[in-house]
Amino acid sequence: MLCAARISREQDRPMSHAHKPIPATARRSPALSGSMRVPGDKSISHRAMMFGGLARGLTRVAGLLEGEDVLRTRDAMIAFGAKIEKRDGAWLIHGVGNGCLLEPAGPLDFGNAGTGSRLTMGLAGVYAMKTTFIGDASLQSRPMKRVLDPLRLMGVEVDASTGDRMPLTLRGPRQATPIVYRVPMASAQVKSAVLLAGLNTPGVTTVIEPVMTRDHTEKMLAGFGAGLEIDTDAAGARHIHVHGHGDLTGQDIEVPGDPSSAAFPLVAALIVPGSDVTIDNVLMNPTRTGLIQTLREMGGRIELVNRRGAGGEDVADVRVRHSDLRGVTVPAERAPSMIDEYPVLAVAASFADGETRMLGLDELRVKESDRLAAVARGLEENGVDCAEGKDWLSVRGRPDGKGLGGGAVATHLDHRIAMSFLVMGLAAEKPVTVDDSTMIATSFPEFMGLMAGLGAEID
Ligand code: S3P
Repeated sequence: MLCAARISREQDRPMSHAHKPIPATARRSPALSGSMRVPGDKSISHRAMMFGGLARGLTRVAGLLEGEDVLRTRDAMIAFGAKIEKRDGAWLIHGVGNGCLLEPAGPLDFGNAGTGSRLTMGLAGVYAMKTTFIGDASLQSRPMKRVLDPLRLMGVEVDASTGDRMPLTLRGPRQATPIVYRVPMASAQVKSAVLLAGLNTPGVTTVIEPVMTRDHTEKMLAGFGAGLEIDTDAAGARHIHVHGHGDLTGQDIEVPGDPSSAAFPLVAALIVPGSDVTIDNVLMNPTRTGLIQTLREMGGRIELVNRRGAGGEDVADVRVRHSDLRGVTVPAERAPSMIDEYPVLAVAASFADGETRMLGLDELRVKESDRLAAVARGLEENGVDCAEGKDWLSVRGRPDGKGLGGGAVATHLDHRIAMSFLVMGLAAEKPVTVDDSTMIATSFPEFMGLMAGLGAEID
């Protein structure tokens, strides 16, 4: 398309990595009660910013998660030429048009955000321009090869001095080559990066996904008008085809509540005796509901009330009451639908009767921290009987919380480790301290206030 817009650029904000840890402590709390709303889904919020910034015309987003990670994606889209402002509670995004991203004037700082950076590598990497990606210590340690490999096949040059890790610079070819790419691990980020690269590539780019992961990219791209077809082969693998150089047009988006954030008050209510909590407007996309399924199998009293459709997704209000939990085996196939929820599931398992075995956890090793190790160390530190294997975790719980707690948990710049162990402290006999709570703002800035509103004692 013609890139007539060539909109004048807004400010490129320099960002610092200065980070002063702020510890937090959670104490055994009285019954939690009340209702709350968690912020918008992080995956959908990143994509709303990104696709809105890319599409021609106006995208209006309500319910956006205003966490640090998503704001980094906003800043990146501004650096690519989009105009983005917040007015009357909604975000207004004037996109540049597919194929019309501008070369950023400086490095894009993604902070802690794996999703923002990896998806943007796909989105911008195939453009005949230079894009540099930087991030915090956690992001710099995360593997980017999984995204860079398919981009190289499409003709992208990668300049990384640190073994396919950030900081790195991408230079796209004059014209990218369409590929058929089978994603080697269960990763929605890798799938999405290749599909987004396909938007600025002639012909059809195909991603084969043997194990289904969250499908927000496919759903939302189709909503923006991208040419996209999905079929399933005899072995059950999804083949997602995207047509390059199509026209994307601005949309109205309502972001539902993030089930990965709802997971924290949900588990808190299950383990704190007497609790009765309702979390309103939570996304119920089946690629995201593995935790609820598992907790119900454990005996969790979780009711989905007022199920409804909103903006092309299913949502519900989730009522949770304190429950007597029992250990279960969580099969490996379920991991993609609850991949971000294992830390807090391990906390629920610490209060369950018997053993909970969690299998197929290899991807947990490459999250914001090595989450499998971080969880196991945190559990040990708080007196929980657990065992860790290469790709599994087993936890033996104590339903009354007796003897649990009293530990100091190393969070390794990982928001979900911090929130999970603060939840543990609400039901453990002794308080639980985390060494840093600042990273919680990457995905759930309102966590402390909302939990306090339910009666949680965290300071
Ligand atoms: C995400 C995909 C998942 C998930 C992350 C968000 C996404 O990562 O852990 O929090 O929005 O696509 P992987 O693709 O690495 O599994």
